[in-house]
Amino acid sequence: VGAAVGAALLERAPGSSLAEGSLPPGTPERVIQLNANENPLGPSEAAVRAIEASPRAAARYPDAADDAAREAIARHLRIHKDQVQLGCGSSQILQMADAAFLGPDKNVVAAEPTFEAVLSYAAVIHARPVKIPLTADFRHDLPAMAAACDARTGLVYICNPNNPTGTLVSGQELGAFLDRVPPSTIVLVDEAYHHFVEDPAYASALGLLDRHPNLIVARTFSKIYGLAGMRLGFSAASRAVTEQLSSQASWDNVNAAVLAAAVASLNDERLVPERRALLNENRRWLCGELKKDGRRTIPSEANFVMIHVGGDVAPVIRSFRERGILVGRKFPSMPDWLRISIGKREEMAAFLAALREIVPARERAA
Ligand SMILES: Cc1ncc(COP(=O)(O)O)c(C=O)c1O
Repeated sequence: VGAAVGAALLERAPGSSLAEGSLPPGTPERVIQLNANENPLGPSEAAVRAIEASPRAAARYPDAADDAAREAIARHLRIHKDQVQLGCGSSQILQMADAAFLGPDKNVVAAEPTFEAVLSYAAVIHARPVKIPLTADFRHDLPAMAAACDARTGLVYICNPNNPTGTLVSGQELGAFLDRVPPSTIVLVDEAYHHFVEDPAYASALGLLDRHPNLIVARTFSKIYGLAGMRLGFSAASRAVTEQLSSQASWDNVNAAVLAAAVASLNDERLVPERRALLNENRRWLCGELKKDGRRTIPSEANFVMIHVGGDVAPVIRSFRERGILVGRKFPSMPDWLRISIGKREEMAAFLAALREIVPARERAA
């Protein structure tokens, strides 16, 4: 294991991974980061060149670059520029949606477990969380979520694919759900992991924007585009909803360097298919090895996978950290599952070798 970990060690960037899990005292200086669903392949060369050129723009406010990036995103998605709002990461889009559509007299409906940002921002403004457990096969329970919506529901959050389970809502299910939810309720579909999906039953919510002015689709440059540290996300929505989101943003909320990198990334036609193929192949390889071990995993359509560890995951997470491998945090409603972000093949091999030591076959649940 030592050799395998050694071969895969990465230099830890200061302050990295804080969005998904901070690095506690005692964490080794050099670590394998499989905890924040980032992209180990990093940005495209074109994006790096754009970042390298960006100091020239540093003295000026980024209004023109903001406009150009929104234009490029709109062209890419075949919507109007006025339907695009940029955020300092898609986390800021989620925060703006909460600020615009929730308050102390409102509630927010979300799956349990899911990506918690919407719920934590909602807590700050004293909106009430309504958490709907996932189905037995770890998918959003959309009929239950629709039934939970009442006159006080300001927002419903659907993470598709869902973090941490990697499971999908199909295009057909999403359409039926939107037909059921009152038009006064905003439906926020978070498609942070959209580019990794291969299941043909999936369809982006973007195709439903024309019919549903209460729909917001959130996307990010942090995952497939490998720009998590640069911070850029965006929303696509009706013009009216985009205006409401925009009123919650601080002025010039995104930086000139990432705007240039984002446009370069969108123009790089090889980036998405290449990274998807490579990372999905690494996920399939890992899941194949886990299956040979007789371990349970949740079939995932994203760059992470949940693995059953047969007991409390907290000590397992600690043991990995002691070996210089950072893994996903504990999700309280799934306490015996471990979330692993998909890394390079050698990182997956190092993880697997360590797992076989930390949770050997005899301690596993059948
Ligand atoms: C589902 C989901 N949405 C949003 C985010 C936030 O991403 P960012 O703020 O980097 O765009 C994450 C980060 O892990 C995520 O998992």
